[in-house]
Amino acid sequence: MEQLNHLLENNRSWANGILANDPEFFKKLSTQQNPEYLWIGCSDSRVPANQITGLAPGEIFVHRNVANVVVETDFNVLAVMQYAVDVLKVKHIIICGHYGCGGVQAALENFRHGMIDNWLAGIRSLARRNQAELAALDSVSAVDRLCELNVLSQADHVARTTILEDAWERGQQVSIHSWIYRLNNGLITTLAPPITGSLDNSH
Ligand code: CO
Repeated sequence: MEQLNHLLENNRSWANGILANDPEFFKKLSTQQNPEYLWIGCSDSRVPANQITGLAPGEIFVHRNVANVVVETDFNVLAVMQYAVDVLKVKHIIICGHYGCGGVQAALENFRHGMIDNWLAGIRSLARRNQAELAALDSVSAVDRLCELNVLSQADHVARTTILEDAWERGQQVSIHSWIYRLNNGLITTLAPPITGSLDNSH
């Protein structure tokens, strides 16, 4: 059986490189984590949260799933969000999608992909609600626009969870950021101003 020795060797040289700069780095980090950011992003291997934001271990709490979906019946994302907001007291929640997202593209396709179609049901519904705008675009642009709409929609979902409503109610400062990453240039774009308090219930 392959033992993945190359990865273990990479790990040792990475740890040694960090120790060369700061011999106490891991010792200090092992006793506490105090990240200011929660990242909710896509599982896509090309969008690694720490690397693309230049953050070290300990600086960003991370949740990733296919197409950066936040749905209020998903205990996984809720558990991550509650720990990040209530215990770690992160100041910023970043929803970061990416152009060319395979999950978002699958949500636009009219054929079965398997179980994942259930996971993507909310994005399919978002596509239907924006059908007029999406139908006017070529297929690549339609996927990219739906990637943007998906980020904005998931940020809205985060803001409407009891976790954020309660945090804002007790005066905790936490803002939600809508970002999108472009695979072919490595750059992040902001899609909307941060959400810094309770949204109204008119939509
Ligand atoms: Co993706």
